[in-house]
Amino acid sequence: MRNKGKFDLKFYLSEKKAIVDRALETYIPEPEGSASDLIKAMKYSLFAGGKRLRPILCLAGTEAVGGTETDCLPVACALELIHTYSLIHDDLPMMDNDDLRRGKPTSHKVFGEAVALLAGDGLLTEAFNLMTRTDLTKDVAPLVMLKVISLISHASGYNGMVGGQVVDIQSEKKPLDFPLVEFIHTHKTGALITASVTSGAMLGRGDESQVRAITSYGRKIGLAFQVSDDILDIEGDSNIMGKKVGADQEKGKITYPSVLGLEKSKEIQSELVEEAIESLRIFDYAAEPLRRIALYIIERKK
Ligand code: IPE
Ligand code: IPE
Ligand code: MG
Ligand code: MG
Ligand code: MG
Repeated sequence: MRNKGKFDLKFYLSEKKAIVDRALETYIPEPEGSASDLIKAMKYSLFAGGKRLRPILCLAGTEAVGGTETDCLPVACALELIHTYSLIHDDLPMMDNDDLRRGKPTSHKVFGEAVALLAGDGLLTEAFNLMTRTDLTKDVAPLVMLKVISLISHASGYNGMVGGQVVDIQSEKKPLDFPLVEFIHTHKTGALITASVTSGAMLGRGDESQVRAITSYGRKIGLAFQVSDDILDIEGDSNIMGKKVGADQEKGKITYPSVLGLEKSKEIQSELVEEAIESLRIFDYAAEPLRRIALYIIERKK
């Protein structure tokens, strides 16, 4: 444990990112055999340079309740596989039609639409394979793992991310409406972020009140994350972010700034972060990474 007051977020994020990257390298095979093009495409997007926020939140969630990092790592990596699949599909021509992601040409630009679609499918499926690999998770109680897998599948599917994505697409160029944008953001982005931090707390055997507090934190930062993504689409720098800016307005997307304006959106993201930190009041210094990550979410440039 680091000294109180000396927490270095930059160091923490890069240390955890390196742990996640190393684990991902060992979990995903080299592109060999008949399906090598598919594996190549899966790895292309996976190692293109994401922030690894979801796996880091999972690890930080476990740390807050005093859990063991290694018990959490396969699930943390599975979350990144699911997230990366969602980005590949989100960028497809029939979705957001974007050419740049993580600073590189999007998957369909490099491999074609069919292989990009399948690379997404491959990543999503592999996430569940990874979470059920008994050689990697033998120290986790089977019932806890089942509950975590159930939570993550719920957050990823029609009740969560995919449900949000369909409404996002169907709402393009439609009348602006606050409950609608709140639904989209809490589902397309908030759900997986919440599941990331909650699954960490569950794997760390947090008690009921701890898991509840961390879930409340996750809901607040999950929504704040998408609000800040909307703001960065207006004020951000494409070279830093590694993706196009100004795309939301071009596509007539319903976003927090389009519904409420920039200033109000910034106010809301700050309130959400304050509430997220407040949710963690029952925790001591062990939740410091989560507190600092909450602030980082609205201060980030990428
Ligand atoms: C981008 O997510 C898509 C959204 C849900 C807003 P990130 O900003 O976490 O993207 P990477 O993983 O760092 O590339
Ligand atoms: C993407 O939201 C959410 C998911 C991929 C689930 P956006 O479409 O706003 O993400 P970016 O801006 O393309 O990264
Ligand atoms: Mg989108
Ligand atoms: Mg998009
Ligand atoms: Mg966006």
